[in-house]
Amino acid sequence: MGAPAEQDPLVTIRPVRPGEHEGAGALVVAAYAALPGGHSSPDYERELADVARRSKEAEVLVAVDPDDTLLGCVTFVPDTTSPWAELVEEGESAIRMLAVDPASQGRGIGRQLLRICIDRARERGSVGLFLHSTPWMAAAHHLYEQAGFVRVPERDWRPVPDVPLMAYRLDLMAPGRGGPA
Ligand SMILES: CC(C)(COP(=O)(O)OP(=O)(O)OC[C@H]1O[C@@H](n2cnc3c(N)ncnc32)[C@H](O)[C@@H]1OP(=O)(O)O)[C@@H](O)C(=O)NCCC(=O)NCCS
Repeated sequence: MGAPAEQDPLVTIRPVRPGEHEGAGALVVAAYAALPGGHSSPDYERELADVARRSKEAEVLVAVDPDDTLLGCVTFVPDTTSPWAELVEEGESAIRMLAVDPASQGRGIGRQLLRICIDRARERGSVGLFLHSTPWMAAAHHLYEQAGFVRVPERDWRPVPDVPLMAYRLDLMAPGRGGPA
């Protein structure tokens, strides 16, 4: 897909603010709705939209431009004590619901959000960073593989029959891992 996009100096990543919960939730819903295949459901969209809950139970980070327009959002799950830690193992952190506004995709914002999560996990001494994805999230797989994540199929699962979840893990203990994403 060509050379990786440069990091955009005009994009800041910071914790979501309470007044942004609704907008960030709508952004995540829109990003997932734009995926090929129409796999969303009203229940899952309600869950994606609920940034207020995620920000209480995990860490929600947003990417914003200089006038605070929301461009992207990710949920960082520090450890297994969070209700958002799904099949996460002791010592690991996790990522949930990475999303970039469809109009702003392809500018390196997803890579920046991923980079921050890797840094957060590393700073807190996590042994690995874990996540689930679906087969139709091709851009996300590209980012994860470029950042050094590997598939761990033994941790795949299916919350509902038509949604196979693919497990990816970044080993943060291996030398040289978690390099530029
Ligand atoms: C995944 C997502 C967050 C990436 O955001 P983004 O800001 O567009 O990401 P970036 O611009 O940093 O990088 C996108 C990379 O994917 C590549 N890409 C885009 N579409 C692709 C596709 N269909 N197949 C493979 N790679 C693809 C781009 O070329 C780019 O890689 P490059 O810089 O090496 O060329 C965004 O696509 C999104 O919101 N998707 C919907 C939600 C989702 O799938 N979330 C993942 C949850 S596990």
